[in-house]
Amino acid sequence: MDSSEFQGFLTSRSSVRAYTPESLSEEDISYILSCAGTAPSAGNLEAWDVVVVTDDGARLELRDAAFEQEHIRQAAAVLVVCANYIRSMSRYGERGILYAVQDATIACTYMMLAAHARQLHSCWTGAFDEEEVRKILGLPQHVRPVALLAVGRGQAPVALTERLPVAEHIHQDAWHGKVREITTMPDYLVTLESAWVIRDAKSLDDAIGIAISEAGKRLNPTAKFVEVEAGMLSCPHCEGELSSAIVVADTGLVGLSLEMRVFRAESQDHAEKIAKSVVGKALRDVPLKLVDVREL
Ligand SMILES: Cc1cc2nc3c(=O)[nH]c(=O)nc-3n(C[C@H](O)[C@H](O)[C@H](O)COP(=O)(O)O)c2cc1C
Repeated sequence: MDSSEFQGFLTSRSSVRAYTPESLSEEDISYILSCAGTAPSAGNLEAWDVVVVTDDGARLELRDAAFEQEHIRQAAAVLVVCANYIRSMSRYGERGILYAVQDATIACTYMMLAAHARQLHSCWTGAFDEEEVRKILGLPQHVRPVALLAVGRGQAPVALTERLPVAEHIHQDAWHGKVREITTMPDYLVTLESAWVIRDAKSLDDAIGIAISEAGKRLNPTAKFVEVEAGMLSCPHCEGELSSAIVVADTGLVGLSLEMRVFRAESQDHAEKIAKSVVGKALRDVPLKLVDVREL
């Protein structure tokens, strides 16, 4: 994975709060947990534990403990990530409390990204009644639940979340130090076009409908946030625009326009590369051509 693909991977994740009832496979859960096992930790003590909750009744109880946040019940699994104080305090004393919380937080971040890599969705959930969660799961006193990570297959279209300009977080050398000049990376709207061949097309509308639905299925769930519309077909000879679809002998050729908002790209070329990498991965061998890159 190069740095553009990595950025595309990060920007294409967002929290999902509505899930289908589909359960997760053992492989999915094992993958997520094994990835967490690679997280760094203070003194390599790995002061975190996780309770994997897939039982319907327990997820319902956790939903109540999380102030009735419905996604906790809906998601196929809730990974309750805990700080294990004994593991870190035995070496670091009081400081170990902070280390255990950091270890658990990093492990949870790895799980969230591992779910994304597996084309699953998640929602980090920090608002819950700690005592209730302790009771439901029978947690011992030396263990503190830090986050409930809901994981499953998302139901609603994934919307990307906007962020503060990153410069707002950065201080140079000291809190009140001089303003650090950083190259702020703008957001871009990248429009790509592709052409789809549809067999057994009854009419132009039929061909367009099938092409949009096929593209939507392929973009789902990795690049669900890409807007798909009927675009224009260009004439291969004169480059002039024809129409959005043609049907000859029950075979349709449909032009689709795919619009992706790319956050914080270094340049127009970089935005194009990210969009082509994300959309290209979802659509595999469909040819993609750049139509426009616009800074937002
Ligand atoms: C520490 C923490 C606590 C959070 N708690 C909740 C929560 O209780 N409920 C919820 O729906 N989302 C929760 N979130 C998710 C955030 O709302 C979300 O990450 C943020 O709005 C950015 O959106 P994104 O994840 O889609 O990029 C939490 C996230 C973090 C990191």
